[in-house]
Amino acid sequence: MVKTARILIADDQADVLEALRLLLKAEGYQIETAMSPTAILSALEIKDFDVLLMDLNYTRDTTSGQEGLDVLTKIQAIDATLPVVVMTGFGTVDLAVEAMRRGARDFIQKPWDNPRLLAILSTQAELSSALRRGQRLEAENRLLRTDGLPTLIAESATMQPVLQLISRVGPSDANVLITGEPGAGKEVVARMLHAVSGRSNRPMVTVNAGGLAEGIFESELFGHVKGAFTDAKMDRVGRFELADGGTLFLDEIANVPMNLQAKLLRVLEIGEMERVGSSKTRKVDVRVISATNAILADEVANNRFRQDLLFRLNTIEIHIPPLRERREDIPVLASHFLNIHARRYRKNLQGFDPPAMQALLENPWQGNVRELNHVVERAVLMAGDHFVRSADLALRAAAQGSMRLEEMSLEDVEAFLIKKALARYGGNVSHAASALGLSRSALYRRLQRYGL
Ligand SMILES: Nc1ncnc2c1ncn2[C@@H]1O[C@H](COP(=O)(O)OP(=O)(O)OP(=O)(O)O)[C@@H](O)[C@H]1O
Ligand SMILES: [Mg+2]
Repeated sequence: MVKTARILIADDQADVLEALRLLLKAEGYQIETAMSPTAILSALEIKDFDVLLMDLNYTRDTTSGQEGLDVLTKIQAIDATLPVVVMTGFGTVDLAVEAMRRGARDFIQKPWDNPRLLAILSTQAELSSALRRGQRLEAENRLLRTDGLPTLIAESATMQPVLQLISRVGPSDANVLITGEPGAGKEVVARMLHAVSGRSNRPMVTVNAGGLAEGIFESELFGHVKGAFTDAKMDRVGRFELADGGTLFLDEIANVPMNLQAKLLRVLEIGEMERVGSSKTRKVDVRVISATNAILADEVANNRFRQDLLFRLNTIEIHIPPLRERREDIPVLASHFLNIHARRYRKNLQGFDPPAMQALLENPWQGNVRELNHVVERAVLMAGDHFVRSADLALRAAAQGSMRLEEMSLEDVEAFLIKKALARYGGNVSHAASALGLSRSALYRRLQRYGL
């Protein structure tokens, strides 16, 4: 247990705060308290906490939990990694469900059961400290990393055309369009193309067209001069100039606004551009690699993408097949991620046990390699001994579990919470019902409805 973890407790009742403070202090936690939603937010701004334990009801109205839910949403925006455990009144399972949809990691009902509360807090504190340690080590590794080549695992037959294209067109200056589903590995392939090119000692500069507001896109790409628009307090170099001599990676290219597509086309055709607000023409020598998970031909057909620009970008097109079409790569990828995360979290793990590997091979992997990476990371954290077991993978849970709560329907979440409660009480319906704040018959009705 992480005894020195810092916990922020929030409740508007002084006696509740005091009781929790005594309980948690005795366990060795560092405690701070807040009595209102505003106080929670300002405490989070000043200090780092490992866990937030918060009541959902505050003075504005004392039963709906709306104030607490609003705070949850705000906390998600400030720091989505902070584990939040919510306290709800007895019999308000809907509220707990809604809280978990908004990012709470767990919930406990009042009046709380001390051992259960302590178990929840210690799990959350441990997870949060492991995650933070991982982030720190990763930052260190990044600084120390000296190898130039990104890792691209591609042993399946389906990936061989991708490897061939990389080795054939990588060294050239040809523009390459990389297509494939989210998480399939488009950015890895872009890095590989750059790394095997003659430009590899120059930077690969990335522009994410999906992440930029339309207003600043142009100056991001081309830069601007002082006074070009109200906020242009000084000259600014755009990404095209930064990438001069190197590679420009235009990610999510389908999101480039129509009016900028013409300007983009011009740089690609003649290698010339102007900073916004300037008439001085500059020459740039840039190789453009772009990526998209959209079907650009459809975008062209719907007049959202210029055909002439598409023809410029896709001199060579590399399509990365989804992971479900190259399952032979799964064991190698999974072991690769296992090694990375085991090192990062300092866990002595030797691999996956056979049922776990089987589960990995059979999973649909809608989120492709990225999802596989996340599942393995979580499993490494959860694994108890030298092997990752299928329970550690929580693959059923990944399809309908807390990781994806925001994408689930209220019914799915309810079914999920019921399963969790049943598992926790070894299938004892009475205990599960009382933990969920339901009567036995109400729980039975739901079990029937959800076919559990
Ligand atoms: N073939 C591979 N070998 C090793 N790691 C890979 C491979 N493919 C993807 N990854 C890893 O999976 C994660 C997702 O890959 P990447 O960011 O390249 O996907 P993407 O196609 O650009 O996704 P998005 O469309 O969401 O931007 C990254 O952490 C990447 O390092
Ligand atoms: Mg990407």
